[in-house]
Amino acid sequence: MYRQNDGKYSTLSISGRTKILGVFGYPVEHSLSPAMHNAAIAALGIPFAYLPFSVRPEDIGPAIRSLAILGIIGVNLTIPHKERVLPFLDEVTPEAQAVGAVNTVHNDGGRLIGYNTDGVGFLAPLKASGVTLYDRQVVVLGAGGAARSVAHCLAREGAWIVLVNRTPERAARLAEAVNGAAGRAAARCFGLDDTGALADAMAKAELLVNTTSVGMSPHDEEIPPIPLHALHPGLFVYDLIYNPVKTKLLLAAEQVGARTLNGVQMLVRQGAAAFRIWTGMEPPLDAMEQAVNRHLEAANRSE
Ligand code: ATR
Repeated sequence: MYRQNDGKYSTLSISGRTKILGVFGYPVEHSLSPAMHNAAIAALGIPFAYLPFSVRPEDIGPAIRSLAILGIIGVNLTIPHKERVLPFLDEVTPEAQAVGAVNTVHNDGGRLIGYNTDGVGFLAPLKASGVTLYDRQVVVLGAGGAARSVAHCLAREGAWIVLVNRTPERAARLAEAVNGAAGRAAARCFGLDDTGALADAMAKAELLVNTTSVGMSPHDEEIPPIPLHALHPGLFVYDLIYNPVKTKLLLAAEQVGARTLNGVQMLVRQGAAAFRIWTGMEPPLDAMEQAVNRHLEAANRSE
């Protein structure tokens, strides 16, 4: 068995007792989760290793069932598996069921349980920033997979949600699902081209969340087509993008004196929640965040 001088296991010290975690994605090469989770494992000195698995979409069923056979403790799921995996699990938490997506699977003694930690990942940094959600208006840009987790989470927190999407029908479907799950008319929606309604909603909102990919590297110069004059100092602007660390939207928000947050914390907190489920241990948040930032900086240097 390989151990470091301080008696902790190095991430390279694989032994017969090493427990395996991982991420299934396609592509998986750019995932920051291996770096983040292996940093957590190293910081705690526990006998785990977290590996990337390139799993084709059509193989997700047998791949996920293999956890039970191989004794793999758990995996994260990223594009394109989050929705497709549901029928292959033994149990899915009510939250993941409502969102319709699973990002974390735990092999609990052979039973495969699906969780969605994106909601808690989204929420934890907001709470840490002191943002109040109950009875407050929130504008959410986008209606894709990320928006689904965000909107359900906001509804559970008692917020009033305005969903704004380029394809309005998609926002309407999401609003209907959120209202059905919440049991109240928590969400309304309109198209991104309805700039008058959007400016009005932004003026009354305390939180604006960008869940779209607009402004994400390598398209750093893009900004979501929203009425920027409606940004105001009382607005908290949360962009789920973490590369670049400051999108054009966040820069514009800073210029009017709005508080801002990027997606690094959400990435760390959704990973931390998964780590807690798999290991039962308190995740070292600082080590995880440092690993993410280190890898983002390295990725940007090599571009
Ligand atoms: P994710 O799982 O990351 O949310 P997704 O499900 O593909 O990814 O959703 C991407 C979101 O970004 C959608 O809301 C998409 O709008 P449409 O539903 O109209 O496709 C939005 N989006 C992507 N590119 C956009 C662009 N150039 N302008 C406006 N919205 C855009």
